[in-house]
Amino acid sequence: MGQYHDMQHNLTQKHILLGVTGGIAAYKSVELVRRLRESGAEVRVVMTAAAQEFITPLTLQAVSGQRVYTTLLDSENEFAMGHIELARWAEFILIAPATADFLAKLAYGHANDLLSTICLATTAQIIVAPAMNQQMWNARSTQENYQRLQSWGVRFFGPGHGLQACGEQGLGRMLEPLELVSCLQTLFQRGTLEGHSVLITAGPTREALDPIRFISNRSSGRMGYAVAEAAQLLGAQVTLISGPVCLTVPLNVDTISVSTAQEMRDAVISHIHQTAIFIACAAVADYRPVHPVDHKLKKQTEFLEIILERTPDILSEVAQLSNPPFTVGFAAETHDLAHYARDKLLRKNLDLIAANQVGLPGTGFESAENALKVIWKTGEIDLPRCAKPLLAKQLLNLIVEHYFQSSKFNRLQPS
Ligand code: PMT
Repeated sequence: MGQYHDMQHNLTQKHILLGVTGGIAAYKSVELVRRLRESGAEVRVVMTAAAQEFITPLTLQAVSGQRVYTTLLDSENEFAMGHIELARWAEFILIAPATADFLAKLAYGHANDLLSTICLATTAQIIVAPAMNQQMWNARSTQENYQRLQSWGVRFFGPGHGLQACGEQGLGRMLEPLELVSCLQTLFQRGTLEGHSVLITAGPTREALDPIRFISNRSSGRMGYAVAEAAQLLGAQVTLISGPVCLTVPLNVDTISVSTAQEMRDAVISHIHQTAIFIACAAVADYRPVHPVDHKLKKQTEFLEIILERTPDILSEVAQLSNPPFTVGFAAETHDLAHYARDKLLRKNLDLIAANQVGLPGTGFESAENALKVIWKTGEIDLPRCAKPLLAKQLLNLIVEHYFQSSKFNRLQPS
């Protein structure tokens, strides 16, 4: 983990005011403060009275290394860092967890405690990480407050979906601290890839046996589409070459649909010379039938022999170009993940490889979530299991860090 944090210092010296309100998820603010500080941020904590029922100011003082602010009318504070000073100091105000009650306060401009007053007095970007029971999140009043705040430019990180402290299942969970930090990092990195072109492959390929049958795999395209969206959010000019999937084309991403490995290879090669970063997330068939037939195969014999031949290895071909882009591969493995992935990294001469364990339920192919082990020549980092869009943002953060440090960046700088 250490190496990851050495690289992930893009919150360095950012002033983040963390507002903690009274929900059970308040206990996660201890880890959140630690993660923010590890990312280089300077953190000041403001707690509401209800938050102090769940966690003590002393705990957050210990992890933040700073005095924790709890009351609006505090004569000692007003000399040092009163509410106006805190409102000015903050570059970002992150309210995590944010209760339904606090959202209502924000939406109607209340200023009856320190945190709500600071929110009124600040010009900083306010970010909210809601945490509440799913009925409360879906309640009409909360939804209207949510819409209202969004229309004013308040940003929402989450809520996430899953099992809640009350035992119910649904939308309303606060995002995990690591996810919140990653969302913040993406905000700071907005525009970092402006002027840089990113080419991504996604989804499966289909290799025909006859006009109606093919060899394919379980790739849904979700991971590759999430990577395309994450790159687009960073301002990149994104081209997505997609095998057959049932997903909506991401906004502001040029999407080219292909079917076979050969078509995917041809589309990649025709775009590669304008590409700064190539990310191969597609599950390309390794073999195809040598003799696909032009009529429906009949079941005439007890056994059917099909001879397969290798498809072009798109990733290797790109990495072996005389002037290759920054090249990122994926590795899907059922066992010895790190071993096989590192072997692919070196054998194919890649800059980075994102390895995922496949064949397990709930992660890898088809699922909404995934986990990655990202490996480069001198290090590696585990990105723990989470929703593919969030994982894709974390992966893009890593790619950006390595890309800007690489000699390829200097060579490929946009004119
Ligand atoms: O699409 P989802 O359902 O969201 O699932 C995501 C995923 C599991 C498909 C994705 O995370 C993933 O692992 N993609 C790569 C799958 C794969 O084919 O891995 P591989 O280890 O067989 O291939 C290694 C690398 O070579 C990959 O980058 C692949 O795109 C590339 N390759 C492979 C064969 C080939 N002929 N050409 C290639 O470019």
